[in-house]
Formats: sequence, C-alpha cells, structure tokens
Amino acid sequence: MPYGYMKPSIVLRLFTWPLLCLLLLVASSRFFSHSNAPGRGDAPTWKAPFRPADLIPVLPRKAAWPLLRSLRSAADLLPAFVGAASDDKGALEWKGACFYNNTAWMEFHNKSGSRFGGGTLHIENSNAHSWTCLDLYLFATPYRVTWDYYFLSREHTLDFHEWVVEAEYEYVKHNGVSIFLMQSGMIGTLLALYDIFPLFTNTGWGENTNLAFLRKHMGATFEERPQPWISSINTDDIHSGDFLAISKIRGLWGGFETLEKWVTGSFAGHSAVFLRDSEGKLWVAESGHDNEKGDDVIAILTWDEWWEFELTKDDTDPHIAVLPLHPDMRAKFNNTAAWEYAKSMVDKPYGYHNLIFSWIDTVSGNYPPPLDAHLVASVMTVWSQFRPAYAANLWNEALNFRLGTQGLNLPEIIVEAEKKGTSFDKLLTVPEQDDWIYDDGKSASCVAFILEMYKAAGLFGPIANSIIQVTEFTIKDAYTLNFYESNSSRLPEWCNKDDDVKLPFCQIKGRYRMELPGYNTMQPYPHMNERCPSLPPNYARPKYC
Ligand SMILES: *[C@@H]1O[C@H](CO)[C@@H](O)[C@H](O)[C@H]1NC(C)=O
Ligand SMILES: *[C@@H]1O[C@H](CO)[C@@H](O)[C@H](O)[C@H]1NC(C)=O
Ligand SMILES: *[C@@H]1O[C@H](CO)[C@@H](O)[C@H](O)[C@H]1NC(C)=O
Ligand SMILES: *[C@@H]1O[C@H](CO)[C@@H](O)[C@H](O)[C@H]1NC(C)=O
Repeated sequence: MPYGYMKPSIVLRLFTWPLLCLLLLVASSRFFSHSNAPGRGDAPTWKAPFRPADLIPVLPRKAAWPLLRSLRSAADLLPAFVGAASDDKGALEWKGACFYNNTAWMEFHNKSGSRFGGGTLHIENSNAHSWTCLDLYLFATPYRVTWDYYFLSREHTLDFHEWVVEAEYEYVKHNGVSIFLMQSGMIGTLLALYDIFPLFTNTGWGENTNLAFLRKHMGATFEERPQPWISSINTDDIHSGDFLAISKIRGLWGGFETLEKWVTGSFAGHSAVFLRDSEGKLWVAESGHDNEKGDDVIAILTWDEWWEFELTKDDTDPHIAVLPLHPDMRAKFNNTAAWEYAKSMVDKPYGYHNLIFSWIDTVSGNYPPPLDAHLVASVMTVWSQFRPAYAANLWNEALNFRLGTQGLNLPEIIVEAEKKGTSFDKLLTVPEQDDWIYDDGKSASCVAFILEMYKAAGLFGPIANSIIQVTEFTIKDAYTLNFYESNSSRLPEWCNKDDDVKLPFCQIKGRYRMELPGYNTMQPYPHMNERCPSLPPNYARPKYC
C-alpha cells in the first residue's frame, strides 16, 4: 500500500493519524525496499534488513499459517518510547522485545570538525531470550529519524556525523535522542501487518477484518439485521438539522475509519447533516465530500444525489443512520443562520488541520498504548521529511497557533516550546479555537462542520460563542449530545420498521445494526470536551472534562 497509489486526499487524511503514519512508515521501509542489510555502524538509512516476501515463504506452511492466523493487535506495530539517551551513562535502561537488558548513552564528539560537532549513540544489549530474535529500533531528534536493528549481544553504535544546526545540538544535549522499540520484534511486526493490511482492502476479507478489529478492541457487536438493509424513507419526516451518522467498514475509507474509531472511541466514522431550503427541498451538507479533482471538500448536495451515491457508488459498505433532532431543538434551529454558515464553507477543504487535535486533549489519557506524544513528535518528524509541504499544512500551522508563533517549522516549534518552558506533549493538548483561520481558510472536519452549523443555528444557546469549541468534538461527542429525539413513539413510522430491535435512531442502510453508546445523553457545558481522555476499551470519561 504505497501512498503513491492512493488518492491524495485519502493519503492526506491517513497521515493526520499517527497510527497510520507509522504503519505506512513501517510498510514503506519493509515492503518496498530492495536493498540488502545495512552494515553495522553504517550511517543508518531507510533500508530493510530483508523483505517479508523473503521471509514468509521460508516458514514451513504448516507453521506459517497458524502463526498468521493468530493475529496480533495492530497496536503491536507501533514503536514504544523507551527513553531518551543522554551523556549520562547508566541513566537509561530498558527491557526490549528480544534483549531483556539494554542501556544507551550519548557521546558528543567533533570528528567531523563541523561547527556543532556530532555524536555517537552507544547501545548495549544483553540477555537475549532466544538465539534468533532481534530488536528493531527507531531513533529520533526533532531533525531526523533513523532506524536500526540488533541481532547480536554486544555494544552497538549509531553515528550522528554532525548536528544539522545548533538547535539540534542544543536539543540533544538537553533532551537526548529519543529511542523507540518496535515492540513486537521483526516477526511480530510482520504478523501485525498481516492484521492491518486487510483493514484497507476492498474485499469481504477486508470488511471482516474491520469488524473483527472493532469487536476486539472496542467491544462492538455488529449483529446482523433482518432484510431489507435499505429503508424506504419518506423524506417528509426529515428536517433541517437532522444528523447523519455514517460508518464505513470496507476499503481504504473503512480501514481509516476503523482506526479513527479506535483512537477516539466513536462508533461512527463520518457524519453529515440535512438542510431544507425555503422551497422545502432537501439537501445534505457534508465536509469530506470527494470533488472531481479527488480533494475532500465541504459540499451541499441534493438528498437524491447524495443517497443515490451511497446506494450505488460508495464501495465502503456505508452503514447510515438518521438522528432526528428533538422537537425543542428543531424549534430553536435557525435555518437561515444554518444555511448562511453552510454556504460560507462550501468548497473549503476538509479539516485536516485540526482533526488530530480534537482527539488529543490530555498529556497521557488519549493515546492507546503504545501511542504517546513522543511518538506523535517522531511521526511528525518523519512525515516532515517525506512531504515537507504537506507537513506545513497538516500540523505546523496549528502548532504555531498553539505556541503563539508564526511560520516555524516542526523542529523550530519543538525547540521553541522547550524554550518557553512547555513541552511538546502539553502543546498538543492546547484546545483548538474555532476562530483560528488557516492559510486555506477555516478548517472543519466532518463533525466540526455540523456542530459549527448547530452553533450558528443557536442549538448551543447563549453559551456558545466563546466557551464551546466544536473543533474539540469527536463524532462520539456529537452523537452523545442530548439534542436528538428521545421519545421513540415520535420517530417516523418507516424508522427501523422491519427490525425487531428498536433503535432510538433510524438506521437507513446497512447489514449490521449500528450502535451509538451514550446516544443522546449529554447536556452541553462550558469548555466541553477540551480535556477528555479517550482510552480503549472503555473510553471512560470524567464528568465535565
Ligand atoms: C545490564 O547491563 C549492564 C551493562 O552491561 C550491567 O551493568 C547491568 O548490571 C545489567 N543489568 C541486569 C539487570 O542484568
Ligand atoms: C569542531 O571543530 C571545528 C574545526 O576544528 C571547530 O571550528 C568547531 O568549533 C568545533 N565544534 C565544537 C562543537 O567543538
Ligand atoms: C436567524 O438568523 C438570521 C441570520 O443570522 C438572523 O437575521 C435572524 O434574526 C435569526 N432569527 C432568530 C429568530 O433569531
Ligand atoms: C411520546 O410521544 C407520544 C406521541 O406524541 C406521547 O403521547 C407521549 O406522551 C410521549 N411520551 C413521553 C414520555 O413524552
């Protein structure tokens, strides 16, 4: 799955998620490198020790298939931060996947005779648990990421010939070089890739992998519903402001949504909203609609066009539910203001800038292990090197806003944050402000777009403007708001008509019954969702976070 083969918009969205960044990083270095093993102590490069295609067939078929079937968690793919190596020998010790006793320290030198000199990272490993195992590591400073693997028990070195700039030297002196362990080792990483690749394939196998992942990691049930799986809808029962919760379970989008659901705790991965114009015609407004150029933009389509697309062209097996607004909310809903807002956003890009920040609210309560802020920083570093132009768009601008600076690149941001006495992980948690304007305009993810419209239409009431930042809301945060119909006898007559289980909302498409835990339960309050942890499998949430 090289990113070169994907639509740019999908790539862009994938890469706003650290998990996928790492996945693709691992994938691209493993699967598409045709080089031989790097020599020990060489300047490390993006070379794979060997290709999985070389490895898997050597396992006897009998052994390989059960191994591959005992799928590991996708999380096994992620490097775990083990610590930062400083010049204090003996300060850093950890247990690896293969070697149980590891230490590392930095030696600063000036072999290059350059202005800031360079350094050597020493790693000593011992107590391997088997003869054949090896440990894979990533090493990162704000300016570079490299990797290496260790097979033999002894002292290894990794040379930083020269520091790129003084700031790198200062940073490493101060904070050390970050070390990440690929915790499942080589085989485990490969097995985990076998688990995660199918998430993205557009096949029944891929769909089942998505379902299995969500069952296992989120406790989702996916019970099959009786036919028909598509409702016949009387659109007279649908009104402006009614919410569309969408869950894609197949293909690239399906895989992307699966991981998004997992990190945020949302049981839907996409959303859109109904609008009725003054002539009574029904429309769907959506952030994340593919335009002809393959970009994801904000669009307003007629209901017929939108529904036709979902029924015939969308190959992600979308499951769709209508969440009708509560009559009191509908009475409050200022349709004129909603249209004004929606029209002002048409053709603006999907909210890449702030997607990641709606999820990260706390220093440690949002990262399913082994994700953490160090990892986010290192992934951002990697990505900045692959695609500097995209990186600037993706998060540099948002981070600059948080720091009160302008135009700094990622290394400068990390260094500046340290100077200002804050750390990068704290910086990530600074709440997004809805009125930040990026160089391509205001940014709104699918759900921020809808909630911003609700805000404009008056649904959050008088508290709205400064004390609700909807860019901090995930899809789950949106469907748990108590804005929706709570009396099931008022739901339209066609709603869940042929299903024996009566959902509190109207599922209009999908083979499996949708579930939205916590649906329609939460009263909005000031600064809602700005400090919420989100850890699987329960995603426990303190009151008023
Ligand atoms: C780990 O290795 C270091 C350096 O080789 C050694 O000093 C230390 O005693 C070892 N620790 C354990 C628990 O074996
Ligand atoms: C490294 O050596 C060069 C040339 O001798 C010198 O100009 C530079 O200041 C040295 N750098 C450090 C950090 O010592
Ligand atoms: C609805 O919004 C429009 C446009 O923002 C505004 O002019 C109008 O006064 C609002 N209506 C009500 C009842 O608040
Ligand atoms: C639910 O709606 C029905 C029909 O409008 C009404 O008769 C009933 O009293 C409502 N129930 C509650 C608990 O509000």
